[in-house]
Amino acid sequence: MCGIFARIANEPVAPALIEGLRRLEYRGYDSAGIATIEQGGIERRCAVGKVDALEAVVRSGPPAGTVGIAHTRWATHGSPSERNAHPHIAPGLAIAHNGIIENHRELRHALSDRGARFRSETDSEVIPWLMHQHMAGGASAKDAMHRVGEELHGAFAIAAISENEPDVLRAYRRGSPLAVGFGKGGGVLASDPQALAGYASEAMILEDGDSAEITRDGVALFNRAGERVQRQTLAVDPSVFACDDNPYAHHMLREIHEQPDVIARILGQYRVPSDVLAMVPVDFRRVSRITLVACGTSYYAAALARRWFQEFARVPAEVAIASEFRYEAFAPPLPGELAIVISQSGETADTIGAMEVMRARGIPVIALVNQIGSTIAREADGTIPLLAGPEIGVASTKAFSAQLTVLAMLALAAGQRRNQPGIGQFHARLQKLGDMVTAALHNEPAVIAVAERIHNAHSMIYVGRGSLFPVAMEGALKLKEISYIHAEGFAAGELKHGPIALVDPQTPIVALVASGSLFEKSASNVREIAARNGRIVLVGDRASLLSLSDVSTHSLTVPQGCELLQPIVSTVPLQLLAYHVARLRGLDVDRPRNLAKSVTVE
Ligand code: BG6
Repeated sequence: MCGIFARIANEPVAPALIEGLRRLEYRGYDSAGIATIEQGGIERRCAVGKVDALEAVVRSGPPAGTVGIAHTRWATHGSPSERNAHPHIAPGLAIAHNGIIENHRELRHALSDRGARFRSETDSEVIPWLMHQHMAGGASAKDAMHRVGEELHGAFAIAAISENEPDVLRAYRRGSPLAVGFGKGGGVLASDPQALAGYASEAMILEDGDSAEITRDGVALFNRAGERVQRQTLAVDPSVFACDDNPYAHHMLREIHEQPDVIARILGQYRVPSDVLAMVPVDFRRVSRITLVACGTSYYAAALARRWFQEFARVPAEVAIASEFRYEAFAPPLPGELAIVISQSGETADTIGAMEVMRARGIPVIALVNQIGSTIAREADGTIPLLAGPEIGVASTKAFSAQLTVLAMLALAAGQRRNQPGIGQFHARLQKLGDMVTAALHNEPAVIAVAERIHNAHSMIYVGRGSLFPVAMEGALKLKEISYIHAEGFAAGELKHGPIALVDPQTPIVALVASGSLFEKSASNVREIAARNGRIVLVGDRASLLSLSDVSTHSLTVPQGCELLQPIVSTVPLQLLAYHVARLRGLDVDRPRNLAKSVTVE
């Protein structure tokens, strides 16, 4: 996914474009660029890497144009380079694109045959050449943009400027998100509605097939048929990107430490389990099966929640990876089937695709989303806000514990609706979660000590049993995402069926254990590793660590909790461990290589 920002005003727009890109950098940072119109020509500035690099280029030759487009890239076609950086140009035109053009090859061939001179390896560069072809044929920029929207296959949000109409900014959306706004002396457009802050107080959300015409006097939206339309608006919250007073070294560390507040906010908003039910049109007494679908960290939250729906609500539940799920062959749906999609951003294309598949099968879809106003939040049959607040660090932390806390409430609510025993008891325990997470955070110095001992490892293994298995997977993902150490999570009981071959004294093994019904089984698995000189980092409550102190090289204590709380609390030391290992390796923890906060392409 990439980020698009554009502005038309009465003063030079380059500073606004740079600021807009800074806000959208979580969407990709392989290269960045801006283009403006001045003295009748297109001025383009680009740089490989983060927005800082582009700002240095712009500072050395600031464009004076009062209309301009900007882009920060997450590479899909063509490596990160100056020539693959957006905006892409054709004579008299510049465009910025977010998405994937699936028919770019055939379009490129046809356009090259007609004289187009391509500079980049990207799929996006067919857009300006297509527009140029239509306008050379006499079409207006408006018609050209519309025709291009019809000729392209795939997902695309496009912003365009043209020398023919220096007082107009144009945009088109299908698949990838785009919002426009108007205020303070001009128009503005961005991939994320909240990035309009300071330029507009309201964001108009473009729907698929919509195009926008933005001038210094206003905004006009047109649907696919070319009719003038009004679209849903969303209030722009200036606080979302106003987080420059971060007392922590990185956004990720601040977000890890924000978790007790996030949990308190959630338990304050959803006081009793039925409060979450009020958000969604579902009668859990009639639900016959739940399918949970998500990607990345959200998928591991779904995998854990699958256990809870079965345990606390006694309803059959399955979990699926969205990118796989959307292309599966399905048996006819059962009456009473329910789908739950989970997403921090609400814009992950694979999860949106899975949601569309479910809806096409007539299965109601409820969504747990952090970014309200996002595509998933708007298009689900019911949405439960995660209330985690803006998450800037690319590796998800507080959104994960928010997902688990809200999913725990939802599983308890389902259990209550289905008259399952003990729900009140578990709800009472859930009220202690914030304090338990605070206690786990207080153990950070011990985590730092372990990180100092293992941060040069080449690979690591994470194991857990039962509800700690998905947490082990998430721990391994966190480490991979930000430290680039190869790490794998396994079900502890599965290790002896193959992966135990990886055990050696150089490979740290993070073993999650907890007092309770599965302790003895987990302890045996840990001892199997110790028997092969594995370097064990134990994470667990005091009692379980004590019983295994003879085999652990390092140990990290977390408060003791039940089936519901233990997995959430045990995530905290894994987040901190990944953070400090990456910090000690001198890496950019908030903007790790090759990643984006959520991916709006397949
Ligand atoms: C990836 C992010 O792109 O998408 C992960 O790097 C995230 O952190 C995953 O978990 C899913 O995103 P979302 O927004 O759908 O939860």
